[in-house]
Amino acid sequence: MKRILFVCLGNICRSPMAEFVMKDMLKKARLDRVVEVASAATSTYEIGNPVHRGTRQKLAEHGISCAGKTARYLTRADYAQYDYIIGMDDGNMNDMHRMLGGDPDGKLIKLLTLCGDPSDVADPWYTGDFEATWQDVNRGCAALLEKLKQEL
Ligand code: 4NP
Repeated sequence: MKRILFVCLGNICRSPMAEFVMKDMLKKARLDRVVEVASAATSTYEIGNPVHRGTRQKLAEHGISCAGKTARYLTRADYAQYDYIIGMDDGNMNDMHRMLGGDPDGKLIKLLTLCGDPSDVADPWYTGDFEATWQDVNRGCAALLEKLKQEL
């Protein structure tokens, strides 16, 4: 069993997109019973709110539902609960280190580094460009899937 937690600032745009793309990929790879996926926020801005309409629409275009997901806050206890805690940008990584009390077990990863790319995942909050986020999230999750297949 592996447990993955995706993290971004609000937990309404990028990290829920990664959560539901990853769940879809795992299901298609028949690994959904051995990998658990969730997502959380480093800020309190959107706690309790549903997934942003832009992310919801982009997922729906690809036949993926995120019904029922609401934003939740990252807590220190999450560090022990998950095998990998995956941020979307450098700001998330800084916040995650601070909120989780460091990274003694090497669990914290910035998503696109799994593709050998030091870039941040495109942030749609100011641009409204959810397609760019979709592309980044998909290549990051595809790389994560390959990593998990090797480890399981
Ligand atoms: P997310 O997007 O971190 O990808 O969920 C954002 C959501 C909310 C805010 C910023 C980014 N905000 O400033 O409230």
